[in-house]
Amino acid sequence: MSVLRESAESVSSSFPTGFVWGAATASFQIEGATTVDGRTDSIWDEFCRRPGAVANGDTGEPAADHYRRYAADVELMASLELGAYRFSVAWPRVRPDGGAENEAGLDFYDRLVDRLLEAGIAPWATLYHWDLPQALEVRGGWAARDTAYRFAEYTESVARRLGDRVAGWCTLNEPWCSAFAGYASGRHAPGVTSPPSAVAAVHHLLLGHGLAMERLRTYAPSAPAGITLNLFPVSAAAPTDTSDVDAARRVDGLQNRIFLDPVLRGGYPDDVLADLAPYGFTDHVRDGDLAVISAPIDLLGVNYYRALLVAAPVIRDPGPSEWIGAEGVRFLPSGLPRTEMGWEVQPDGLTDLLLRLHSEYPGVPLYITENGAAYPDEVGPDGTVRDVDRLAYLAVHLRAAHAAIRRGVDLRGYFCWSLLDNLEWAEGYAKRFGLVHVDFATQRRTVKDSARWYAGVISRNGLPAE
Ligand code: FCB
Repeated sequence: MSVLRESAESVSSSFPTGFVWGAATASFQIEGATTVDGRTDSIWDEFCRRPGAVANGDTGEPAADHYRRYAADVELMASLELGAYRFSVAWPRVRPDGGAENEAGLDFYDRLVDRLLEAGIAPWATLYHWDLPQALEVRGGWAARDTAYRFAEYTESVARRLGDRVAGWCTLNEPWCSAFAGYASGRHAPGVTSPPSAVAAVHHLLLGHGLAMERLRTYAPSAPAGITLNLFPVSAAAPTDTSDVDAARRVDGLQNRIFLDPVLRGGYPDDVLADLAPYGFTDHVRDGDLAVISAPIDLLGVNYYRALLVAAPVIRDPGPSEWIGAEGVRFLPSGLPRTEMGWEVQPDGLTDLLLRLHSEYPGVPLYITENGAAYPDEVGPDGTVRDVDRLAYLAVHLRAAHAAIRRGVDLRGYFCWSLLDNLEWAEGYAKRFGLVHVDFATQRRTVKDSARWYAGVISRNGLPAE
């Protein structure tokens, strides 16, 4: 019996009927073709040109050349048994420079969606996975309220064209990264280091989400829609030390509750408002905004990679940091093995996170919209990629997800990050997250062992016996 196709008797953990099994990607990380069919620069094209901003001087070209190879990539997805594919739409293709609609850009996603449906794969579209048109950044980017309205306009273009066929929608991917890595630490595009801009961006991103939901309700009413957040279980390094406990509260507020509470509870948490008061956060919040932001969503996308262990600040002036409102906070290792990103492998954190969402933010169906790991994969002389570490990572995280389902969590799907090796943002092409290896010089795809194992999980809707 092959490892990949074990018999039904060996299934120990079945997932609910109808559980969505997928893989995820993002436009800028895989598409390439950055100047084709009317596309103009995004903030990431611009950021990649800055010396030292992205490892090895890597850029959005050629990426995985998916814009040209999408049809073959869909065939690959089908061979991996994927039931769903989460991709993102590039705003600068659909509305170059944030301006008028560009048919040729929409045509690409039209072709992709049709090809997915022909292959029996449900298309899941994310509207914003970080590629803001550079022309809008010049006009203030997410620090400017107007960008939220431009986002709604762009959403309408996409929903009008694809709304009859997309199976699930995510408005934003990880607004924490867009706001704090983009405008506070400057580690991501647009590379700004301005805490007041970062807090403005938080609110304008959320407003954009709410306005986009309105357009989706009008132009794509039948498919479930929501937002994807990068959420982290946060704990204090010394649970009896009040300053560690306060640091953990701040980090949880700035990472998780600042997004969860306005969307799912109708308001920003008081303690977060107090932490961010020095930066003028509430100046951006207008009457009626929170009603728009908190309109019901059909799904919450959860991106989970690891947990955070937090200790009180010791550094007085940490320099540009993502942790405004928790300046100088320290993140401690807990001694677990790490992936190539340096992130600890913490599957229990996934169960904890899902249980917390279930109890503190009840009633919204959950989907894991990203989970995965980077390891230094190589194609061996026999043409295989023996990525045992990734396979083990996926297995323990799927077990952790299953444990949450057994305890009553309404988890409805899992999307592995990522389908293909791709441009891992500021880390460049060197960090490989794919189920499928990409040789970026030749664009040759090689299915990794983890992908074959995952295909087996999908086809039996369950994990093999331990
Ligand atoms: C997430 C991003 C995704 C990818 C993974 C590793 O923060 O959404 O694009 O880079 O991390």
